[in-house]
Amino acid sequence: MYTMDLTGKVAIVTGGGNGIGKAIVHAFLDCGALVAVVDLSFNEMTSDERLFYVQTDVSNHEQIDTMIESVIDYFGRIDILVNNAGISTMDYFVDIKEKDWDKTMDVNAKGVYLCTQAVAKILKQQASGGKIINISSQAGKNGYRLMGSYVASKHAVLGMTKVAALELAKHKINVNAVCPGIVETNMKRTERTIGGELRGLDAEAIETEDNAQIPLGRTAVPGDIANVVVFLASKYSDYMTGQGINVTGGMTM
Ligand code: NAI
Repeated sequence: MYTMDLTGKVAIVTGGGNGIGKAIVHAFLDCGALVAVVDLSFNEMTSDERLFYVQTDVSNHEQIDTMIESVIDYFGRIDILVNNAGISTMDYFVDIKEKDWDKTMDVNAKGVYLCTQAVAKILKQQASGGKIINISSQAGKNGYRLMGSYVASKHAVLGMTKVAALELAKHKINVNAVCPGIVETNMKRTERTIGGELRGLDAEAIETEDNAQIPLGRTAVPGDIANVVVFLASKYSDYMTGQGINVTGGMTM
């Protein structure tokens, strides 16, 4: 029988406190996994012993090491890592401020590199395989105006996905990426406001423009992305590695 069963698997979801990450956390729980929710802060915490909240900045090496130790102390092992934490900053390319560039690259690219390295070390010691899933973006494959640093960081995520997939394959660790299109989260709402201001359009006009570009006729809800992440965390993706899967309602093909 086909079931997305993750019973007993231990997953780390970065940026798990909101948006897409939160949907992934709940999808994993529904499949029987135990989940470490990693984020800068938490506006709500569900009381459930299958959930372990760890306040961590993914761009900080020391905090990641401490987070990994505490997850091992609490759950005893790690099987799945979802590198989902991300930020976006917006400006015309020629105007990007160095501090915004650095911050975007630190969280979106360096965070993936640091967390992957720390978790891969544990997965190799356990010698029972594992799944690493990176949340890139269709901005990891295409250019979008006003999103220079974000686009660069998400291309970097796809690059790391391919190299880590090659190097970890012999340890039966699959490394894949999901490239979402437009997903209704706080990040998207902020982007519409700032992008609108820069382009002299209101957020509503940007939303209409967004919808018009999507063949399936609607923007994504976080659960649309979580569905694909669950597949990549399950045994049904055992023969896939190094891929960047578009989940865009057809906007990117
Ligand atoms: P969101 O803003 O709703 O959630 C992002 C989460 O990451 C927040 O809880 C935030 O606190 C956390 N975070 C930010 N910096 C962090 C850090 N240094 N350490 C730990 N946690 C940190 O955003 P959303 O939309 O759920 O984004 C999730 C991922 O999906 C991001 O990587 C984003 O780039 C990607 N994505 C989002 C799309 C969208 O349309 N919303 C489209 C394509 C990709």
